[in-house]
Amino acid sequence: MSEVFDEWDELNADFKELEVANRAYLQYLSELSGYQKKCIDHIKHQRYRIGVITKALKDIAKGKENEGRVKELRTNIMKRKAQLYAIEQTLPKENGTYLKIILGNVNVSILNKEDKFKYKDEYEKFKLILSMIGFAMAILNYFVRFRALELSYIFLLVWYYCTLTIRESILKLNGSRIKGWWRFHHFASTVAAGVLLIWPDNETWLMFRNQFVLFNIYISLVQYLQFRYQRGVLYRLKALGERHNMDITIEGFHSWMWRGLSFLYPFLFGGYVFQLYNAYSLYNLSMHPTATWHVPVLCFMFFFLFLGNTATTIMVIPSKFQEEVKLQYRIMSQRLSSQLLNRESEDSIDFESRKDN
Ligand code: COA
Repeated sequence: MSEVFDEWDELNADFKELEVANRAYLQYLSELSGYQKKCIDHIKHQRYRIGVITKALKDIAKGKENEGRVKELRTNIMKRKAQLYAIEQTLPKENGTYLKIILGNVNVSILNKEDKFKYKDEYEKFKLILSMIGFAMAILNYFVRFRALELSYIFLLVWYYCTLTIRESILKLNGSRIKGWWRFHHFASTVAAGVLLIWPDNETWLMFRNQFVLFNIYISLVQYLQFRYQRGVLYRLKALGERHNMDITIEGFHSWMWRGLSFLYPFLFGGYVFQLYNAYSLYNLSMHPTATWHVPVLCFMFFFLFLGNTATTIMVIPSKFQEEVKLQYRIMSQRLSSQLLNRESEDSIDFESRKDN
């Protein structure tokens, strides 16, 4: 009987330790948010003054006298911007309007580099798995004409694109440089899939159905190629940012990237031509006597997606040239911050072992 009371007393002593640890934790937490605020204010200040200096530099650059110093300052500004970007990635950010509407004010900032990498990797895997399921369902739909199967496939598309928009907004908040068009593309695809879902099962749908299914089979295959490219980029960039990694250089990364892009481009443009062909077929179908409003709306959407995809994909090439220098600085500051982190963790291990001794 007395054992029970002894145990309770022992547990009380343990609880006191928990209380002490929790108090220390809360204190660190309040200090942490103070430092976070301080860093955010400093970043704002740095960006504001960089803007002022850049403007003033434009006037100085007109003359020839300070050419060397102007060039050096421009390089330093670019380097500072990359450093600010790297620091910003370690700080929490407020949700954008879309995430606020969907998730509310929950914090989705990922502050750890490794966790960011995992989240992006998971996003790529999610796209691959869903496009493989989509591929299987599209094949099934091509050979079997069953309305419930057709609708469940289109519903899967609505859900898939809608989920992508949420995941991409979280990625964007956490520093992804995904272009606005691709995010918009997935919003537009959700709407297009929604219109397909409510397109009545009439003659025009029957005339377009197989072409649409074939288009999706093709897109699923292209998505597999995209996955291989994007995952390659992700892992190589990670390796580049690691301080001790000697297996890959920036030049090596770029030559791999250009090879990857030149392999992928013909397939991507094949998809855009298919989109244009879809728009053309829908345009012809819109003259059909049984055509409902869904036909011209989808015709417009396919054409719009064709234009946006083609323009954005073409523009990736010149933007890659401009990004080369930025990438060098970004990787430099990534290495710097991982060096700092390593030094800190070495110091804390040292401290802990001294404490234990
Ligand atoms: N969807 C989602 N994210 C994309 C993307 C897309 N279509 N295209 C690029 N991104 C992401 C990249 O992963 C990268 O993310 P990060 O900053 O988190 O690392 C960021 O956007 C910047 O990418 P960028 O350097 O501009 O391009 P890239 O080299 O990664 O990819 C392409 C270039 C052209 C291969 C890629 O944009 C692409 O596959 N586009 C075609 C998509 C398409 O047409 N889909 C419809 C088929 S009909």
